[in-house]
Amino acid sequence: MTRPIHLSAATARTSAPSISSLMKLAIERPEIVSLAAGFVDQQSLPVATTAHAAAQILGDAPAGRAALQYGTTIGDEALRAILIERLEVQHGVTPGAYRRAVDRTVLTTGSAQLIYLVGEALLDPGDIVIVEAPTYFVFLGPLETRGARAIRSPIDEKGLKLDALEATFDRLKAEGSLDRVKLVYTIPEHSNPTGISLAAERRRPLVELVRRWSDEAGHRIFLLEDSAYHGLSYEQAETESLWSLDPEGETVILARTFSKTYSPGMKLGYGVLPGGLVDAVLTLKGNHDFGTSNFVQKLVRLVLANGEYDQHVERLRGVYAGKRDAFLSALDRHFEPLRDRVRWTRPRGGLYVWMTLPESVDTGFDGPLFRRCLEQGVIYVPGEFAFAPEPTAPPRNHLRLTYGVPDEAALAEGARRLAEAVRETLAEADGGSG
Ligand SMILES: Cc1ncc(COP(=O)(O)O)c(C=O)c1O
Repeated sequence: MTRPIHLSAATARTSAPSISSLMKLAIERPEIVSLAAGFVDQQSLPVATTAHAAAQILGDAPAGRAALQYGTTIGDEALRAILIERLEVQHGVTPGAYRRAVDRTVLTTGSAQLIYLVGEALLDPGDIVIVEAPTYFVFLGPLETRGARAIRSPIDEKGLKLDALEATFDRLKAEGSLDRVKLVYTIPEHSNPTGISLAAERRRPLVELVRRWSDEAGHRIFLLEDSAYHGLSYEQAETESLWSLDPEGETVILARTFSKTYSPGMKLGYGVLPGGLVDAVLTLKGNHDFGTSNFVQKLVRLVLANGEYDQHVERLRGVYAGKRDAFLSALDRHFEPLRDRVRWTRPRGGLYVWMTLPESVDTGFDGPLFRRCLEQGVIYVPGEFAFAPEPTAPPRNHLRLTYGVPDEAALAEGARRLAEAVRETLAEADGGSG
């Protein structure tokens, strides 16, 4: 007789990933233009650079054997040193200024693992994480697993609204929950899902705000800076990171990745952690996987050191800037008749456009727009997934669109199909209410 499976409470409270059905759909119906998948541009993946680096590592037998052996849990020391030197160059500080951070730098299996581990290290059921509204929906999964409360705080066209964040903290204090707040999670560079970046003038005040509330709470509240799209700015130089405003590592946890700028198949990310978190994260990471692929770390170290990584990112920026321009101009063209009812962001980097429809339109999988989009042959990610469940029911009138994967012709066609589906949906809603 088959006995029931008693899954753990943590597993039972974790919902299935919200967009796996979209991935399946895009594979099953290749005629669909997917403005949904967060994949990277297929044609630009650095095959020759990677082949060359792999041949170089494996062409030297001792180096090859070292790369094919397990590494340490924290990761390759020379690579960690290079990453910190690159942070010094990015922020124009004297060489060696951040040297002490090398020991606080942890290489991880994608930045997904780093942010997961931070959650695992800090959160018990009932603990609170303040996230942007909207946020990177994949991070809401681990929070659910931990049994943590994700509470959203609004953004505007300049990123997190500091007065609203202050009000969120005030409210939590008033309800007696301040002792449960552990983390503020932000994506300050070309955010997934909006493409919006945190304005320069809000950066220092944000770090100070979190520090002040940490003092008020009487325990450390961390600011998790997820810069997954760092390197992919198409117009101007990158803004200073939040981490650079806290290089001693009291408040800010920096998470970065090579997935978007080099290869998601490599799955290499890293975090620069406050000192007090390093041991906890390493202990947990040891339980997960001992350490991230040593071979991949050696390979990335090589392409960073020989300049090929930077050359690749330079080329990639050109490719994505072209796609972004093609997509935005197609949206401008096809949505022109709907201009007063539909808004969208104009990203200066990253891979995403966030679209807002009238509140009456439900963009969810079961709503009229998604059904029409399927008929037209275009898909997007319903915006509702990107909103934490508290403090009120999430809005349902947004869409996350990405221009990362389709080529320029497909992006233009996707925009046309989407506009047609939106036009029909709005016309039906107007007719229904009239
Ligand atoms: C905001 C953000 N953070 C983290 C990740 C995780 O990427 P990876 O684990 O491949 O580094 C992604 C991937 O889409 C992302 O968009």
